[in-house]
Amino acid sequence: MAFSKIDLRNFRCFDSLSIDLSSKSNLFYGKNGCGKTSILESIYIASSGRSFRTSNLESLIRQGSEAFNIRAYDDNTGSILEVNKAQTKPINIKINNSKVTISELARAFPSFSIDSKTFFYNDNAPEYRRKQLDRGLFIASTDYAKDWFGYFRSLKQRNSALKLGDMAQAKAYDPLLVEHGERLNILRENLITEVKKIYDEMVHGLAQENRRADIFSNIDIYLKPGFDNNTGLMENLVKTSSIDLKRKITTAGPHKADISFESKGLLIKDIFSRGEQKLLSILWSISQNIYLGRAFNLSPILLLDDLSSELDAEMLECFLPTLKYIENRFVFSNIVDPFGSKISINEQSLKKFHVEQLK
Ligand SMILES: Nc1ncnc2c1ncn2[C@@H]1O[C@H](COP(=O)(O)OP(=O)(O)O)[C@@H](O)[C@H]1O
Ligand SMILES: [Mg+2]
Repeated sequence: MAFSKIDLRNFRCFDSLSIDLSSKSNLFYGKNGCGKTSILESIYIASSGRSFRTSNLESLIRQGSEAFNIRAYDDNTGSILEVNKAQTKPINIKINNSKVTISELARAFPSFSIDSKTFFYNDNAPEYRRKQLDRGLFIASTDYAKDWFGYFRSLKQRNSALKLGDMAQAKAYDPLLVEHGERLNILRENLITEVKKIYDEMVHGLAQENRRADIFSNIDIYLKPGFDNNTGLMENLVKTSSIDLKRKITTAGPHKADISFESKGLLIKDIFSRGEQKLLSILWSISQNIYLGRAFNLSPILLLDDLSSELDAEMLECFLPTLKYIENRFVFSNIVDPFGSKISINEQSLKKFHVEQLK
């Protein structure tokens, strides 16, 4: 499902606001403080039950009000989603009047946010990259979610046994760890291979329009599985057992996976500028969204707040034609409208909202 219309009540600076989204790109622009981030945040909450900015959902209730309310409508299925948050009460989410959990919500209306941590994707710790990778697959594939839980349950038990120095007990979890872990690895590898194909095709097209985009070509993006994939996970667990026992923790496995971004053997984080890294993160996130949409029959929303922060005029110029490749809903904000007449993109694929004029 995907929502096409969203109504806000008493959300941050808005007492009431109604927005009809395009099924492709949506730009919210306007000066500081006009409510751009608030609009993107409301969309993220409506599809995840969480904010991308704060853990304090109460701070999102318009000052002086008792509660905020977000309603979203899915034109295709006629579904109505409603999110309510009252002071001192937990968030309440309903789809067609039935209460749903946060993970049911995330599966029904998936959304992904390209935030400042994603921008410097390559500067972040492996945990963050792994989380990004897992979240997409977790939402898209129930098989992946089952294996993920299975793997981490076994890992926790194996680590508890290692803590007690009981190798025999720890080893009892190896078959389960291998069964779930190898499946996680295959799905992750497959995702990266497929997203890379989409990314390469898009970058090839961009580079034909703008030579500056050439720097995004020929980048090696691959999964580091967290264990030696040639010998398989079981053999790895055997090989690392004495180290595991000494460190009292499982040292190899899919929980140590990472994605590597490299160019001619050098890490992207060491050679790309921040602006270049941000655009790379945007291109990769768009490719991943296209893949999840195509492969799992989803309509994931992609959110990007403050497009041009960190991007200079040339990088922004490289980005503009990317909109032609968008297949699912893309919602982004910027202080000004960077398009003007620069790009010949038909009205249906880019809808612009001047936020000051929405109130
Ligand atoms: N709970 C709230 N009640 C009323 N106004 C709020 C609340 N939270 C934030 N605001 C105000 O909303 C305005 C819009 O913020 P924001 O969406 O971040 O703007 P932008 O992203 O366009 O710069 C700001 O002026 C902010 O002070
Ligand atoms: Mg903002």
